[in-house]
Amino acid sequence: MSMPRIIRRTGLLAGALVASGLLSLALLAQQGPVASSYGPTNQTQTFAQIKAERLAVKAERAKAHTDLLNSRYDLAIKTGPNKMSGGKAVPVGPTAKLAGATWDQLDKMTPAQIKEKGLFPYKPLPFPDHAEGGMLFPEMTIKPLPRLVRFDLDFDLPEAVLPDAAPAIYLTTRPDLGDVAKGRLITLSNYYEIFNGILNPKQLEGLRLLLTQFPQQQFNATEDRRTDRNDGMLGVTCFDCHVNGHTNRATHLVGDIRPQEFRHRINTPSLRGVNIQRLFGSQRALKTVEDFTEFEQRAAYFDGDICMAAKKGINVLERGSQVHFMAEFMALLDFPPASKLNIYGELDPAKATPSELRGEALFNGKAQCGRCHPAPYYTDNSMHNLQAERFYKQELVNGMMMAHDGPIKTFPLRGTKDSPPYLHDGRCFTLEDTVEYFNLVQQLHLTAQEKQELASFMRCL
Ligand code: HEC
Ligand code: HEC
Repeated sequence: MSMPRIIRRTGLLAGALVASGLLSLALLAQQGPVASSYGPTNQTQTFAQIKAERLAVKAERAKAHTDLLNSRYDLAIKTGPNKMSGGKAVPVGPTAKLAGATWDQLDKMTPAQIKEKGLFPYKPLPFPDHAEGGMLFPEMTIKPLPRLVRFDLDFDLPEAVLPDAAPAIYLTTRPDLGDVAKGRLITLSNYYEIFNGILNPKQLEGLRLLLTQFPQQQFNATEDRRTDRNDGMLGVTCFDCHVNGHTNRATHLVGDIRPQEFRHRINTPSLRGVNIQRLFGSQRALKTVEDFTEFEQRAAYFDGDICMAAKKGINVLERGSQVHFMAEFMALLDFPPASKLNIYGELDPAKATPSELRGEALFNGKAQCGRCHPAPYYTDNSMHNLQAERFYKQELVNGMMMAHDGPIKTFPLRGTKDSPPYLHDGRCFTLEDTVEYFNLVQQLHLTAQEKQELASFMRCL
């Protein structure tokens, strides 16, 4: 978010005056404290004033969001016997709360009926304070990295529906090593001793850059930062979100959409398997990891505001060496081993259970998942418009418009049990929730047993 909304709107009418800067300044002065409720920037105020305003609404915004989560989900998360690659228990769902209908009843209704009655369990998920936005990190990452604390906002989703705190790292170049991280959070302090001798010097330098802090909208030295710290420890690293090359599902608002209420909450994707992918970003479809690396730091880090990026100290990466080195390291990050899959990425009948095999048959048959998620990596490297808005009304909820998602990237399902919560905004907390979601979106009419089998198949991937 670049400017108070009133200025952006008036700017459309009086472009020339705004360009001269006079009108903006006059309006900014009139606008006063209201401005900050529409986004992160108001540099006519001091840090102390901005902080006081944010703290004044903190409890109220947090309560509104917690109430929303409690109305939509059962937050007492259950886990099953299955483990993520790093050892954390895989959460079991569905976690969505149904308001006045059972799953069976929903299954028999048309999209229009579900919309009319307001019964769709998986509407877009707002950011904890949607009008505010910015980068927000889960507790499990802030604990070892306290520089990521925001004074104005806390992460919202229960830790049980997040990935391993220090996920496993598998290298395409050294599968014989297995997990290289071994439960350690990779940081600037330990990467060299762990990776020296496994990576070449160019890849090591790429990894160093991925672990180095650079200024970002909320984490920098200016007045409207959202961290108390001003001690030279400012900025974020790529691996603050893509922890150990995987993800902690830290969240952010997509930089591309305006106005604020239409921006998607986004759920940090894993970097595992970027080497076999062809499109990057849930909706932008940038064509290379190199492009996305540049875009993250130049645009996403500053909410798509090029002036703020300049003011807050953007670190421009050099394409031929730095960007290339970072991308080369990212392209070494493999999916986790899947012992039940054969060389085609399909279940080996000698290793899989009957229920998992039935799940695979459903995946490729009745449920038609395989049309968009084909083996071996379970992505078609394309985007699809699932038209979930058939099921809900366009209305404002906690500062977010329940609007169309538009075309979204087909995320690969290899290693998917390691990556809750799911979808571009994290609205499905478990694999069981994604099955319920697609059962409605595709109008599949799956039985309860078929739903279980699909989920058990996806846990093998
Ligand atoms: C706030 C945490 C955060 C930080 C810090 C961050 N990213 Fe991301 N990253 C995301 C999110 C969220 C997305 C998904 C963007 C979207 O959906 O448009 C993403 C997407 C990506 C993708 C595309 C992945 C895909 O599957 O489409 C790449 C590559 C990437 N980031 C690399 C980087 C690099 C390199 C850096 C450091 C310069 C970085 N990221 C810093 C959160 C982060
Ligand atoms: C028409 C194409 C299409 C079909 C059919 C389809 N998917 Fe997807 N799938 C997608 C897209 C696109 C996304 C990303 C949606 C989003 O993020 O909003 C996705 C996301 C997912 C995710 C979340 C991945 C992640 O990392 O967040 C899971 C799990 C999933 N699909 C499972 C299934 C299952 C199971 C089926 C069949 C019952 C299925 N899909 C059918 C296109 C499809």
